[in-house]
Amino acid sequence: MPITPRSRAASATPKASRDTDTRRDVLVIKIGGSVSAEADPALDAVVSLHDGGHPLVVVHGGGPVVGEWSSRFGLETRFVRGLRVTDAATRDVALAVLVGLANTRTVSALLARGVPAVGLSGVDAAMLRAERESDELGLVGRITRVDSAVLEELVDAGRVPVVAPAAIEAPGDGEPLDEVFNVNADSVAGAIAASLSARLLVFVTDVPGVRAKDGKVIGSLDLGRAKALIDDGTIEGGMLPKVEACLVAARAGCRAAIVAAQGADAVERLLAGDSIGTVFEAAA
Ligand SMILES: Nc1ncnc2c1ncn2[C@@H]1O[C@H](COP(=O)(O)OP(=O)(O)OP(=O)(O)O)[C@@H](O)[C@H]1O
Ligand SMILES: [Mg+2]
Repeated sequence: MPITPRSRAASATPKASRDTDTRRDVLVIKIGGSVSAEADPALDAVVSLHDGGHPLVVVHGGGPVVGEWSSRFGLETRFVRGLRVTDAATRDVALAVLVGLANTRTVSALLARGVPAVGLSGVDAAMLRAERESDELGLVGRITRVDSAVLEELVDAGRVPVVAPAAIEAPGDGEPLDEVFNVNADSVAGAIAASLSARLLVFVTDVPGVRAKDGKVIGSLDLGRAKALIDDGTIEGGMLPKVEACLVAARAGCRAAIVAAQGADAVERLLAGDSIGTVFEAAA
């Protein structure tokens, strides 16, 4: 006998399957990984977009939490061009924290708010294949292939996949067969958006967009301008992989934007064609 849902939380069941291919309508939203269930504007955006009937894929990061747990284990944290230098111990901490803690917290916070979230990492169903980014970075992967079938199945069933950043080695690149790489969550979001031909890729972050040297937010960027800002050091650290991911997505025909966590409004306005934060228009 069906159980009557007692609350909105208990009704976090998928919406009816869609009978048309809605893949082009999918939105990919990348949020930070330090989700607090009570008041998180990035989660508000996810909830409201889901409630508005938009098919979604969520990708989360969690850099600060990985840093915190690494120091608990006495591991030193170091970044090169915005990417975490990752030895085997740091990779294990990153997996435990991102695929374990951050993913579970994000999924449970979304379920509690009625979103039928399903957690998985890029390793599941070999969704993300990667090769070593560089010797200097250790076990950091560069994504070489995305198999988005599992995401499409979940989205088509009305569920909201919540992807933790990790990838499995691409066959034939000389790594041990089951090597798992730490990958930057921004790169994951960009690769997934490109693979799904998403309608929009949004990075919800702690700054209102890409800032110019004078601190003002730049409303729109293209490859040439972004390259110049990277070369002169204006775009650095955590903003580097975000901008690179936006360029990957734009090249694949997706509009991409970097916005501050400020609830659903920003994403709804982006969907309506407005420019909020920094927007990268889809390359023609
Ligand atoms: N030109 C720039 N404009 C704006 N922010 C910049 C710029 N260059 C570097 N940054 C830095 O990028 C940071 C955002 O990236 P960061 O990796 O810290 O956050 P996140 O990716 O949203 O979270 P997480 O890494 O946990 O997923 C900003 O807080 C800022 O310090
Ligand atoms: Mg980051």
